[in-house]
Amino acid sequence: MIHIEQIAPHLTWPIRYQVMYPEHDLDFVKIENDDEGIHFGLYYNQKLTGIVSVFNEGKVYQFRKLAILEEAQGLGLGKKLMEAVIEYCKLQKAENLWCNARANAKDFYKRLGFKETETVFFKDGYDFIIMDLDL
Ligand SMILES: CC(C)(COP(=O)(O)OP(=O)(O)OC[C@H]1O[C@@H](n2cnc3c(N)ncnc32)[C@H](O)[C@@H]1OP(=O)(O)O)[C@@H](O)C(=O)NCCC(=O)NCCS
Repeated sequence: MIHIEQIAPHLTWPIRYQVMYPEHDLDFVKIENDDEGIHFGLYYNQKLTGIVSVFNEGKVYQFRKLAILEEAQGLGLGKKLMEAVIEYCKLQKAENLWCNARANAKDFYKRLGFKETETVFFKDGYDFIIMDLDL
């Protein structure tokens, strides 16, 4: 019923756009170094339902643009996808995993062990806080 696998970058774009930035367009959600990232897709009942993208510089890893389709939010899928990302980073011997968290998702990340940093900012209409996890 739930399956997580690595996916091609372009498969993340429609869900990024639909869930995170529907007020923009598909080009807006493309990341310039998407080709250098590792992208994971969560399939729920064989439908691509969640996506997240991981980038690294040495042993420091960042995940970006985690999104679960609206109709499937609150079912534990975001947590499962993040657990897979954390597991992947540990296998890569990463030391730290961080993200620019939307302020309204802060508690979701806290439940996964992420800690708030002091860096907060406003971008593209949203408040963000940098959060990180020592691995
Ligand atoms: C944030 C998001 C990824 C969470 O995924 P999800 O599948 O809905 O969350 P889950 O069902 O796995 O939730 C896991 C736990 O976190 C809690 N949780 C989920 N979203 C939360 C939020 N925004 N704030 C606080 N807690 C939250 C759930 O209640 C659940 O708690 P439990 O373990 O005690 O039952 C998803 O709601 C989403 O895509 N939102 C829109 C895009 C977005 O904001 N992405 C994050 C950008 S940084």
